[in-house]
Amino acid sequence: MTILVTGGLGYIGSHTVVELLNNNFDVVIIDDLSNTERFILKNIEEITGKKPIFYPFDLKRKELLKQVFDAHKIEGCIHFAAYKAVGESQEKPIDYYENNLFSLINLLQEMKERNISNFIFSSSCTVYGQADKMPIDENTPLKLPESSYGKTKQMGEEILKDFATAHQKKITLLRYFNPIGAHPSAKLGELPIGIPNNLVPYVMQTAAGVREKLSVWGDDYPTEDGTAIRDYIYVVDLAKAHVKALQKLINVSSDTLVDIYNLGTGKGSSVLEVVHAFEKANDVAVPYQICERRAGDITIAYANADKAEKELGWKSETSLEEALRTVWQWQKYLETREK
Ligand code: UFG
Repeated sequence: MTILVTGGLGYIGSHTVVELLNNNFDVVIIDDLSNTERFILKNIEEITGKKPIFYPFDLKRKELLKQVFDAHKIEGCIHFAAYKAVGESQEKPIDYYENNLFSLINLLQEMKERNISNFIFSSSCTVYGQADKMPIDENTPLKLPESSYGKTKQMGEEILKDFATAHQKKITLLRYFNPIGAHPSAKLGELPIGIPNNLVPYVMQTAAGVREKLSVWGDDYPTEDGTAIRDYIYVVDLAKAHVKALQKLINVSSDTLVDIYNLGTGKGSSVLEVVHAFEKANDVAVPYQICERRAGDITIAYANADKAEKELGWKSETSLEEALRTVWQWQKYLETREK
């Protein structure tokens, strides 16, 4: 069965392509290389011994997208391709709406015209905003996200629900908590392009001496150590959830057209807990300073992922420390590549 993976050379996309190939799916990747590099394709091939088909273009180019659907018998789609930097989305909201919504709409037009089912959408726990109670399950009311990025995810979900209802198509929305870590082979990971926004890539670069000090954004939150709490989920575990979700879409008849799953560990960790876990796991120092809170940050978010366990047979398996060990291996790999 051939699955189209958009953004398949990106961080979560590349790990998911590996899991799909390992589970005997054929994969067609579309990625415009705007936030990744070509060597990731070669590394996917080295890890799996298989060659996914790759098209380097932007999904807004409808005529090219049509050609891909003409050339392959696509039977499902996992849609990762999107801009994802929260801060940048505040400076360039229109670029975010244009990119994230038009690519989704173009894809859905093709799926509709060709009567293709099985669509999985990369959503985010950002759609919950600061939830009133923890842990967050899928019935937690959504709040308007602060960032335009977050709004594109919420709008994407709404577009997909309408699509599913009008065209009787089964779709799955996966709401990720905070993905971290790298492939155990150290050949795939989050590419640090520019100054990292996210915590773990910044910690990685600080430990490596690329950055002088980590800024811990706020130690006056109402949490035990005063720093904000998130649910950090290992990227390979996350990738495996996509295969399970796809297998369910394909094989299991369901009464619901739209299935929504939270993907997290169910455990919250504070910023300082992550820093200290990284130091312990890798026996390195991470110098840091406490700074003011970052605008738009929430205090706490962690998942109740019981629904994914019950319905997909999936749960997070990898500890925070194990995940952080793979991050350091990935940094070492990137250093050898530079030489
Ligand atoms: N943090 C620091 N210093 C840094 C970077 C982050 O202290 O240099 C803190 C943040 O303030 C936050 C925590 O680390 O408390 C995690 O921050 P990230 O930027 O890694 O992640 P966020 O939870 O802010 O955002 C992530 C993704 C978004 C997604 C959101 C909710 O980056 O794409 O989760 O799903 F929308």
